[in-house]
Amino acid sequence: MQRITVQTTPIEGQKPGTSGLRKKTHVFMGPHYLENFIQSIWIGIGGVEGKTLVLGGDGRYFNDRAAQVILRMAAASGAKKVIVGQNAILSTPAASNLIRINGTDGGIIMSASHNPGGPDEDFGVKFNMPNGGPAPEEVTNKIFEASQKVTSYDIMETQDVDLSEIGETELAGMEIQVVDPVADYAALMEKLFDFDAIRLLLGSGFRIRFDAMHAVTGPYAKAILEQTLGAPAGSVVNAVPSPDFGGGHPDPNPIWAKELMTAMFSSEGPDFGAASDGDGDRNMILGRNVYVTPSDSLAVLAANAHFAPGYEDGLKGVARSMPTSRALDRVAAAKGLDCYETPTGWKFFGNLLDAGRVSLCGEESAGTGSDHVREKDGLWAVLLWLNILAIKQQSVAEIMMGHWSEFGRNYYSRHDYEAVETDKANALIDELRGKLDTLPGTSVSGLTVETADEFAYDDPIDGSHTGQQGIRIGFEGGARAVFRLSGTGTVGATLRVYLEDVETDPMNMHRDAQSALANVIAAADEIAGITRHTGRTEPDVKT
Ligand code: G1P
Ligand code: ZN
Repeated sequence: MQRITVQTTPIEGQKPGTSGLRKKTHVFMGPHYLENFIQSIWIGIGGVEGKTLVLGGDGRYFNDRAAQVILRMAAASGAKKVIVGQNAILSTPAASNLIRINGTDGGIIMSASHNPGGPDEDFGVKFNMPNGGPAPEEVTNKIFEASQKVTSYDIMETQDVDLSEIGETELAGMEIQVVDPVADYAALMEKLFDFDAIRLLLGSGFRIRFDAMHAVTGPYAKAILEQTLGAPAGSVVNAVPSPDFGGGHPDPNPIWAKELMTAMFSSEGPDFGAASDGDGDRNMILGRNVYVTPSDSLAVLAANAHFAPGYEDGLKGVARSMPTSRALDRVAAAKGLDCYETPTGWKFFGNLLDAGRVSLCGEESAGTGSDHVREKDGLWAVLLWLNILAIKQQSVAEIMMGHWSEFGRNYYSRHDYEAVETDKANALIDELRGKLDTLPGTSVSGLTVETADEFAYDDPIDGSHTGQQGIRIGFEGGARAVFRLSGTGTVGATLRVYLEDVETDPMNMHRDAQSALANVIAAADEIAGITRHTGRTEPDVKT
């Protein structure tokens, strides 16, 4: 075994986005690509010597190879110890938990989340901090800077480490602890939720279907929902993780989790349905014949979290990303809770959670979580829903109806225009930005613009400023359209248009969201000139 120093040159474009560095897998597999980025992480975090890290990923194509490279580089740079999930597998929330309970110096998560996997699909690497949350911009900027200057990296030349057996091993003096990916996470869930109540519910003929989408949550859901909580075998489907997610797109939304949608909207459908994404941090919630939007789910969880033992003393406060619907704000106002509005991306919740300002947070993109870890957590959301259903003894449809009549309904939809030419997408945003001052007071598609601005965030804890986080157009009466470009895409630009309107009349609360939002959709197109700029007449995805 030999420690070698490999000469390299900086590679362009290693700039972490909304959630780590994501690229096509073949790009990551290219000469020095992964190695340069890992060396840049070491530099960005002030070296790895003497440090303990957690390492794991969602099992996508190249996960196993990348783990070996990272271990050899950690050992060569003097890391003390790496705690690795068996077979280099860890869901993102489980990795966050391991960082926290072991008090490590951080961790590396290999995932491109909900993006497809495979040699021609996506791969990603993300560094998480000692609090278990994604690195803040201050750190990702340092990593990016390092990637522009890196000239060499250190790596051990050695055989692969056997990661298939749980236990301790070592590599060139660096301890490696291979752990069961599920055990600690399952123990945490048992502390937060009323497992007895859920067990009774699942034993009473209440049927659930959890679609793991061939991704990382399969083993977690099998162990917790079936083995521990007694859901009948087969309640968890597509439960075996595969490197290309069974050829699918592991994104839990009505488009990509079509199989689950069909099952839930059939006359014999189960009572509760849910899905999670590639790395286990997103969730989708359904009842029989009901799809719960992520924004509504967040509001329902905020209104009812006290039914779970982990939250029985009430919430400290709540937070949502700016484009997420304001259904959460209505609950917060009714309960007298502080409600924070942050930029898109989980990393902005970390400071608020660490400072004890909020205990529950979420995003419209199917992410919900709490202060139990510093990532969003798909299975956690599913268990909180089950806990609430078990205590309230109501169906998902009844819970939604009760919620809307108490708090009002925020109709909500997101329209995505994918793989738009970057220049055209930037031109659209620039043009919007340029006319913000002139919009208030104008009439568009029957709506009057009340406010128009570009969202920026001043972190109340560390004072950092984050600008250009999306264009917000507020209409009289409470409707809203938000425009921003995705920070996670790997091809061209993705334009996201977030549409919302408020309804407080109980007679009008059961409409289809697209038709309820028709005038906001028309106004958004008119204001931004989506068709004129992009040539597109329809979004690729509506969620
Ligand atoms: C998307 C979502 C965002 C989420 C992120 C990581 O980012 O919109 O809410 O935090 O994925 O899962 P975007 O592509 O919009 O930058
Ligand atoms: Zn994810």
